[in-house]
Formats: sequence, C-alpha cells, structure tokens
Amino acid sequence: MARSLMGVRVTGWGAYAPDLKLTNAALEQMVDTNDEWIMTRTGISERRIAAPEETTASMAAVAGLRAIATAGLAPDDIDLIIVGTLTPDYPLPSAAALVKEAIGNKHAAAFDLAAACSGFVYGYRVAHGYLASGLAKHALVIGAETMSRCTDFSDRGTCVLFGDGAGAVVLSASDEPGGTLGIELTTDTAATYSIWIPAGAAARPATAATVAASEHFMRMRGGETFKLAVRKLGSTAIRALEKSNMTLDDVDLVVPHQANARILEALSKIQNFPMERVFVNIHKYGNTSAASVPIALSEAVAEGRIKPGDRILLVAFGAGGTAGAVALQWTANPDDRLRADGIGPKDVRILDTGLEPVSPFPPALEWIRVGASGPEAKGSPE
Ligand SMILES: CC(C)(COP(=O)(O)OP(=O)(O)OC[C@H]1O[C@@H](n2cnc3c(N)ncnc32)[C@H](O)[C@@H]1OP(=O)(O)O)[C@@H](O)C(=O)NCCC(=O)NCCS
Repeated sequence: MARSLMGVRVTGWGAYAPDLKLTNAALEQMVDTNDEWIMTRTGISERRIAAPEETTASMAAVAGLRAIATAGLAPDDIDLIIVGTLTPDYPLPSAAALVKEAIGNKHAAAFDLAAACSGFVYGYRVAHGYLASGLAKHALVIGAETMSRCTDFSDRGTCVLFGDGAGAVVLSASDEPGGTLGIELTTDTAATYSIWIPAGAAARPATAATVAASEHFMRMRGGETFKLAVRKLGSTAIRALEKSNMTLDDVDLVVPHQANARILEALSKIQNFPMERVFVNIHKYGNTSAASVPIALSEAVAEGRIKPGDRILLVAFGAGGTAGAVALQWTANPDDRLRADGIGPKDVRILDTGLEPVSPFPPALEWIRVGASGPEAKGSPE
C-alpha cells in the first residue's frame, strides 16, 4: 500500500568563503594567461583560497552552523548530515563525521557523497528521501570544497577555473504547502574520464612516481566538458520541471552550478530563457564544485533575488557525468538569515589528529598569502 510522503522545504541556508583572493592578475604572474582571456572565456575575475588552517570540513562546519541558525534550530536538532565533496579532509573518516563533531551534534547519521560538482544537488535528493519517508525531520545538506588542494597551478587549462568555499541548507519535513516540487538526477557515462584525478585512490594508489607525474591533481578535457555540461544541465532541468508540472516560463530564478558564465549564456540562449532570471556569481568565486549551488542560493536570498512564493530551479553538472536539478517553491523568510550573523571560523574546531602538522596550502600560492609582489620574490613556485 502506498504511504503518503511528507513535504520537504528549505528552512535554513548559509555559506562561507575564505578571505584570501586569487585574482586574474595574480594568475597572469604564474601561468601564460591574461585577464581578458579568463573573463571572456569563463566570466571569472577572482576565486577564494582556503587558509592553511582551513579544510573542507572546517568550511563546511561554518556554513552548516550558519544554516542551522538561520533555520532557528540547534545543532542537535539535525538528524542527518550529508557533505557533497570531492575534496574531503581525508579518504576516511568522512568530512561529514568531522563536521558532526565540530558543530556539536550528538545523534545525526553523517556521511559524504561523491558526485563532484553535482554533490550538493545529489545530497538534496538523498536527504529529501529521508525526510519525505519520515526517517528524519531535519537534514543538513552541505556542499564544500578545497579545490586549491587538488589544482595544478602550472596548468592554465584548469587553474584559472576553480576556487574554495562551502554552502549549506537545512531541509525540514513539513506538511505546509510549497517546498520541493520535483527532482531529477542523471549520470552520463560518456563523461566518465572528462574530469578526473588519476592517482591517490584504489586504482592508482599514491606513490613517488604518481606524485612526480602530478597525477594527484585534477585533469580536464575542457571543450568536451563544456558541450556536455550545456546539454545535461538543460535536459536535467527540463525533466525536474516536468516532474513539477512546470515549464521554464514558471521559474522566477535559476540558481545554477557556477562552472563557466559562457555555459550559462549558451544554455539561456538554447532554452530561450532570459539571463536576468539566472543567478550568476562566478566572477567572485570561480567554480567551487559542490559548494557553488548553495553559495549562490545564499547570496541570491541575501541580495533580495528570492522571496517567499518564488519558484526556484537549482541545477548542477559535474565530473562523472553527474547532473541534478531541483524545482522548489521558496517558503522561508529571507530575513531569517540575520540569525546567523556573527557565526564564523572561530566557532568551529576540527578534531585534532595528534599527527605532526603539515601545511596543506599550495606552495605555488604562498607568495599571495604572504603579500609578496610576485612569485619571483619568493623564488619559483612549484
Ligand atoms: C576550460 C575552458 C574555459 C576553455 O575554453 P575554450 O574556449 O574551450 O578554450 P580551448 O580549450 O578551446 O582553448 C583555446 C586556446 O586557449 C588556450 N588556453 C587554455 N587555457 C588558457 C588560459 N587560462 N589562458 C590563455 N589561454 C588558454 C588553449 O591552450 C588553446 O590554445 P591553442 O588554440 O593555441 O591550442 C572551457 O572549455 C570550459 O570552461 N570548459 C568547461 C569546464 C568546466 O565547466 N568544468 C567543470 C564542469 S563541472
């Protein structure tokens, strides 16, 4: 016998981006590129870089605490914590387990979800299943990445694109009208190795040779990825809208994964959907992978672009050919975000391992961190 499902709505949201900025001008000093090329091909002007003491889990915990405060909840009200990430602090334990400890939650189930840039939207889907079926009442879904720790800063094809940060939502079960309307997830195996990190896991464990060959850094076939992203973002979004009995005309704001402004412009043209109703903040953060949709969502609310009753479409595409879209009707009071004021990195501490500390900060960016005028001033970057 079919059981009736609960409704699921966003009750809390929050984001965190580290302070340090990596500008196009700085990249010009590191690789053969220029501001004009980066701006016209990607729309990116700068990205944020995590400080040495920051990790995916620490940024995730700040964004998570902000989302919990916005929802008017306490950390222990959360029953489920999902962190979408491709850059967890360690292969194990999960970043989610570290986040759970850092925010002082006692009873939630916590795990990471590996769907690359679609990780947040996939996490939303999984949490939705828990909440709709009554297995949980409040879920914390986070997208968090430290992309600077898997980026080859001598590869101009990738190092101009990515940045660090975290975003989160609290999803709550509710029988009130509104909230989540329809969700679609897809995985296209045509893109399996279009973006990948060859070594450092079970198929090619890290060795001196894999490190010497830079196989622990991300690699990407940009043109191929671009075309597939345009196609999959479109088809996945349309399918989520169909499941919601909506068309693009009904959507007040699309909050997409911020991979490349040109991808979004191409999509808007093909779908005949105005760019004025697409939220874009890629110029400030670059591609923050799983963090990009929840960071964009938080900013869209803060900028007054989302009001109660608005119909919103979240849509993402990522490595492994993953894509996902969520159509929802916004129900929360945008002013609730003020409840998170004052929450920051000082409020979280990731459990110490007891190991001798190492700096995880990319050596190639050290000159920016210390405020030198260029990489030469510090000697050649690695
Ligand atoms: C990476 C990307 C910006 C490259 O843009 P593009 O217009 O496709 O450019 P191409 O790869 O065709 O390269 C064109 C030229 O620019 C050069 N180029 C690449 N990166 C450059 C850079 N940072 N600065 C200057 N020139 C660069 C290339 O070497 C190439 O030179 P050539 O013609 O002499 O061989 C684009 O393919 C892209 O955004 N792809 C999708 C990436 C993405 O979204 N990934 C994550 C998905 S979640």
